[in-house]
Amino acid sequence: MKKYLVIGNPIEHSLSPKLHNYWFKKNNINAIYEKRLVDENNLKKLCNEVKNGKLDGFNVTVPFKKEIIPYIDQLSIEAKNTQSVNTISFNNGKLIGHNTDIDGFELSIKKLKFDVANKKILILGAGGVVPSIIFALKKMKAFEIILSNRTKEKAMNLKNIFDNLTVAEWGELPDFDMIINATSIGLKEGDKFSLDFKNKGENKFYYDVIYDPYKTDFYEMGNLSNNIFENGLNMFLYQAQKAFSIWHNVMPEINEEVFKLLKNYEIK
Ligand code: ATR
Repeated sequence: MKKYLVIGNPIEHSLSPKLHNYWFKKNNINAIYEKRLVDENNLKKLCNEVKNGKLDGFNVTVPFKKEIIPYIDQLSIEAKNTQSVNTISFNNGKLIGHNTDIDGFELSIKKLKFDVANKKILILGAGGVVPSIIFALKKMKAFEIILSNRTKEKAMNLKNIFDNLTVAEWGELPDFDMIINATSIGLKEGDKFSLDFKNKGENKFYYDVIYDPYKTDFYEMGNLSNNIFENGLNMFLYQAQKAFSIWHNVMPEINEEVFKLLKNYEIK
């Protein structure tokens, strides 16, 4: 039986095992997918487990998407350009690092038929997922990308990696067509933004990378007047679908049953 993992810290709430194990059943694949709490000292050992055949691949989540890179033999172009790896496969004796968050984000936007091509996009946060979001937005030809992060230095570091980024002070709130919450504000019940988005007008697209809990402070603002709101659930599903296809050469289905399995459908 093949064995896969998602690793991170914390990892308790990951929905990946539920999803991948469901897809194994649906596609008659003899495999198991588990979660494992690790710290930075375990990363090398974990990679050796793949090389020794104890594991067949794994997903990486916060905060190891960059930290895992020194132990990987080969990076995909996307993983290299973002310095972010969320999926590891094993081919011809080599550990290959992929970044499926980029496709995950892109497909979630395309599903909504939202065209970023002539839009001003404001990203709040500069943590692990942001390089993938920037990469996807650039690929989709976003008109302008503005980054705002509490710790400005982290936003400046991203400006050094990607061309044509604007960095705004935290709290400044420049005009935008689309605003993305890539901070961890909202992960804990009752988390509130100290920023007031309301005077930025209507017809804005609010995208929260967080999907659990469903009703975040950002959700409340995105649902005011004529705005569009999307959370990170579809991004999560599409990144998992892509990872599954890399490992098993099968594109698993994302359908009502999947949403039911993950329970978020009830609120939507
Ligand atoms: P990491 O930065 O370790 O990759 P992350 O969860 O991917 O972790 O990112 C957390 C993001 O949320 C960061 O952009 C963080 O801002 P800092 O870089 O200043 O830490 C942001 N964040 C978390 N709590 C915040 C708060 N209360 N106000 C503003 N930004 C916050």
